[in-house]
Amino acid sequence: MQTPPTMWWWNVLVVAAIGTVQAASRDQWLGRSVYQVVTDRFARSDNSTTASCDAGLGDYCGGSFKGIINKLDYIQELGFDAVWISPVQSQESTRTADLTGIVISTGNEDRELTIGMIAYHGYWPNDLYSINSHFGTSDDLQALSKALHARDMYLMLDIVVGDMAWAGNASTVDYSTFNPFNDRKYFHDYKPLSEDPTNDTCVLDCWMGDNTISLPDLRNEDREVQQMLGTWVSQLVSNYSIDGLRIDSVLNIDPVFFSNFSKSAGVFTMGEGATRDASGYCSLQPSLSGLLNYPLYYIISEAFNTTDGDLNRIIQSIDYVRKNCEDVLPLGTFTSNQDVPRFGSYTSDISLARNILTINMLADGIPILYYGEEQHLSGAFNPVNREALWLTKYSMNSTSLPLLVQSLNRIRSYASSDGKKSTIAPKSGTDYLSYLSLPIYNSTNILAMRKGFAGNQVVSVVSNLGAKPATKATTKITLGSDGTGFSSSQNVTELLSCKTFVTDSSGNLNVDLSSDGGPRVYYPTESLNRSTSICPDHTQTSTTSSANPKTSTGAGISLSALAWEMKILILTAALTTSYVFI
Ligand SMILES: *[C@@H]1O[C@H](CO)[C@@H](O)[C@H](O)[C@H]1NC(C)=O
Ligand SMILES: *[C@@H]1O[C@H](CO)[C@@H](O)[C@H](O)[C@H]1NC(C)=O
Ligand SMILES: *[C@@H]1O[C@H](CO)[C@@H](O)[C@H](O)[C@H]1NC(C)=O
Ligand SMILES: *[C@@H]1O[C@H](CO)[C@@H](O)[C@H](O)[C@H]1NC(C)=O
Ligand SMILES: *[C@@H]1O[C@H](CO)[C@@H](O)[C@H](O)[C@H]1NC(C)=O
Ligand SMILES: *[C@@H]1O[C@H](CO)[C@@H](O)[C@H](O)[C@H]1NC(C)=O
Ligand SMILES: *[C@@H]1O[C@H](CO)[C@@H](O)[C@H](O)[C@H]1NC(C)=O
Ligand SMILES: *[C@@H]1O[C@H](CO)[C@@H](O)[C@H](O)[C@H]1NC(C)=O
Ligand SMILES: *[C@@H]1O[C@H](CO)[C@@H](O)[C@H](O)[C@H]1NC(C)=O
Ligand SMILES: *[C@@H]1O[C@H](CO)[C@@H](O)[C@H](O)[C@H]1NC(C)=O
Repeated sequence: MQTPPTMWWWNVLVVAAIGTVQAASRDQWLGRSVYQVVTDRFARSDNSTTASCDAGLGDYCGGSFKGIINKLDYIQELGFDAVWISPVQSQESTRTADLTGIVISTGNEDRELTIGMIAYHGYWPNDLYSINSHFGTSDDLQALSKALHARDMYLMLDIVVGDMAWAGNASTVDYSTFNPFNDRKYFHDYKPLSEDPTNDTCVLDCWMGDNTISLPDLRNEDREVQQMLGTWVSQLVSNYSIDGLRIDSVLNIDPVFFSNFSKSAGVFTMGEGATRDASGYCSLQPSLSGLLNYPLYYIISEAFNTTDGDLNRIIQSIDYVRKNCEDVLPLGTFTSNQDVPRFGSYTSDISLARNILTINMLADGIPILYYGEEQHLSGAFNPVNREALWLTKYSMNSTSLPLLVQSLNRIRSYASSDGKKSTIAPKSGTDYLSYLSLPIYNSTNILAMRKGFAGNQVVSVVSNLGAKPATKATTKITLGSDGTGFSSSQNVTELLSCKTFVTDSSGNLNVDLSSDGGPRVYYPTESLNRSTSICPDHTQTSTTSSANPKTSTGAGISLSALAWEMKILILTAALTTSYVFI
């Protein structure tokens, strides 16, 4: 839906207030933080940390539901309270061809279409009613769900609803083998998407896949298909107590399908479409509760994957997505996934990785971390970006990244819940999660964002300066109190180092990134008194913010210009709550 620019913020506020069809589930997911696993590659039932796994071979490596259960401590220690797992349905079981290289077949997504492999990834279903035995039994899946819930964690299931899979070319498909779609009538006539990838009808109706793996395309616009998928998904959610669904390739499915499907599911739905274009994608809301924020993903990846990236584009991208999506809070933010190169394949600079992870975990929306990003795994295009995590021994100190992720999750959780875990819906737009981040400083190399009202504001500074910032680069900036909301001579703690700084008499905060180009996350020291896990010694270390700040060459944003519409949203929200915005 296109909204006139002057009114878009009102929509955000209204949506936040009235919610969507699945209001309760959407609201419950907003405060969650999601760890995405490729089930076959995360953990094995035998707990092995040495079993070999060559991701390039495209074969099963032995990860399982039981393996995930055994390693929930690791996920929880990283601070996540939701787990997204691979599709669980039975798969086309033929190894389809020799590995021949990677082709981006669909025009907008890199799926494993021309590389031969076995469907360890789960995206080639042929029987929706049975469980992929490589991952375990349906009892094992129920046990995983139970184990997660016992820890107050959520289970997000990945599902494929647009096609079935058959090893062979289109003329060889034996429809009677599919369950429940055991007849040709449920599928579109064969035409490969690669033949007509820019034709909008073809994008919805044509077949993905190739001559070695056909993906017969379901007629999701037909009532009968809708009813069959509706019945299936409501059973699936109920049989396994699923808390949310991630839906594959939503841009290749007729959009009329989703509204009733989401109602049948009755839980939070997060759609996936690999696109930079927010306009058509966002129109799938509110039929789908949330969407993977691909438009932002491309921009942050490009901004941080070299020291030549441009962080200004992040602000433009956030603005663009806000203007197009009705409801940005349930969008999923990520730095990588099973379809795209890992961040570690672009750069070995841990400082750049720390920065992109910081923006990933603290941005508006629901943070999602692809397993192994915290270990700085470096597989590029699929299939090599699905490494076996057990080979890292689930180390919390391999690099500084696992503990960084833990800190960032704790910070978000603390700010969003007054130190307690909250599943209460933000209704008024006045709490931390629904405070849309305000950029308070930006340049090509440094971006500072504020999220949260005064007293509970998280001020994060990220950069792409790298671990050894160039000597000519600007590494010292001053954040004014008009942006941060910090007051004069206020103690603020930098939560990643647990060092406390004092703002100057005007409330300015000096930030120095010269030592490591690393991220900084500031928070009012006095507001840390609810926490026992975040900088417990914060009252003991107090460092004075360096005097005589060097004003940076990059100009901050003029808040008075109201160029950033968020200010209007905050003020609007403030009208109803007597909150005074600094
Ligand atoms: C694997 O680890 C889990 C959890 O630590 C433990 O309960 C289980 O006995 C282990 N299984 C094997 C086969 O070692
Ligand atoms: C489809 O596969 C069959 C069996 O391998 C083969 O005989 C036939 O020529 C193929 N058709 C096309 C159009 O490739
Ligand atoms: C677009 O694709 C659809 C579905 O394959 C087809 O019916 C239609 O003729 C195509 N349109 C054009 C302009 O080629
Ligand atoms: C759900 O469980 C019921 C009862 O065991 C079974 O008949 C049905 O096939 C299951 N459905 C799915 C989608 O797993
Ligand atoms: C959704 O389901 C209802 C009730 O079955 C039906 O009347 C309606 O046409 C469906 N909507 C769409 C878009 O298919
Ligand atoms: C950075 O990421 C973008 C988008 O994913 C990619 O196109 C580009 O090649 C990457 N840059 C480098 C240097 O790898
Ligand atoms: C990581 O921690 C383990 C266990 O605490 C320790 O044995 C190991 O030496 C540490 N490794 C590094 C690289 O610091
Ligand atoms: C900051 O971002 C805004 C919005 O994209 C842009 O207009 C401005 O030029 C940027 N500031 C700097 C110093 O690059
Ligand atoms: C924390 O400090 C604030 C401000 O000084 C105070 O209002 C609040 O009661 C304190 N909370 C706790 C749990 O001590
Ligand atoms: C800042 O922290 C120092 C050291 O803990 C303390 O002495 C001082 O009172 C604090 N200032 C404010 C304004 O809270």
